[in-house]
Amino acid sequence: MASILIAGATGAVGREVLRLALADEKRVGHVVAPTRRALPPHPRLENPLVEYESIAGSEPWWHVDAVICALGTTIKKVGSQAAFRKVDHEYPLLVARHALLNGARSYALNSSVGADAGSKSFYLRTKGEVERDLDELGYCSYTIVRPSVIWGERQEVRLGESVAIFALTALKPVVPRRYRVVPAARIAKALLDRALAGVPGRKVIESEEL
Ligand SMILES: NC(=O)c1ccc[n+]([C@@H]2O[C@H](COP(=O)([O-])OP(=O)(O)OC[C@H]3O[C@@H](n4cnc5c(N)ncnc54)[C@H](OP(=O)(O)O)[C@@H]3O)[C@@H](O)[C@H]2O)c1
Repeated sequence: MASILIAGATGAVGREVLRLALADEKRVGHVVAPTRRALPPHPRLENPLVEYESIAGSEPWWHVDAVICALGTTIKKVGSQAAFRKVDHEYPLLVARHALLNGARSYALNSSVGADAGSKSFYLRTKGEVERDLDELGYCSYTIVRPSVIWGERQEVRLGESVAIFALTALKPVVPRRYRVVPAARIAKALLDRALAGVPGRKVIESEEL
């Protein structure tokens, strides 16, 4: 049975990954979920409370088989492009490097539809750059999931996202499959299945495949 590390386990997608992983007694033996806020305890869950800025890399819980990264923020929330880039680019790479050095073979990233290192959009460029830079680390198995707008449980109100979800749902029959709203649980399943399967090579899963 595999041990997996989930980064961003308190988020809309990460929470679903955590729920599925803890319910999966056949494939998942141990779950490590480093978070800033404590998670409800579970016998197979290790929940180190961390600030990414002060992670050393020598923590024993980095010894896992697979990693799922669902970290992310918004510029509105953190106040600047630099602070956004830290969470959406620097931290996913930090997690990837530490886990790889400790023996992880598989990494699955929650990215975004339209991610492109050459994009004029800062958001899409950052997503493309993190995809590209993770690829260079040399994981045996590397999966990128690129969802459109995510429907999931949130503690905060995101007006723009709520409007997009409403409009895309109302217009669903005429919206191309790639841009339709995707439930967080479906993204989580794709991330978990790929991370656990550990199929060698790089695989991109676009939103319409979810
Ligand atoms: N929302 C969408 O419609 C959409 C669409 C396409 C792609 N995406 C991408 O999908 C990914 C996951 O999205 P989501 O909606 O599940 O995100 P979310 O609900 O906002 O969750 C983000 C996760 O990242 C963690 N995080 C944020 N800043 C952190 C920091 N400074 N230090 C440590 N942890 C931090 C959060 O922890 P805390 O709980 O401690 O804040 C949370 O666990 C993101 O990369 C996002 O860009 C989102």
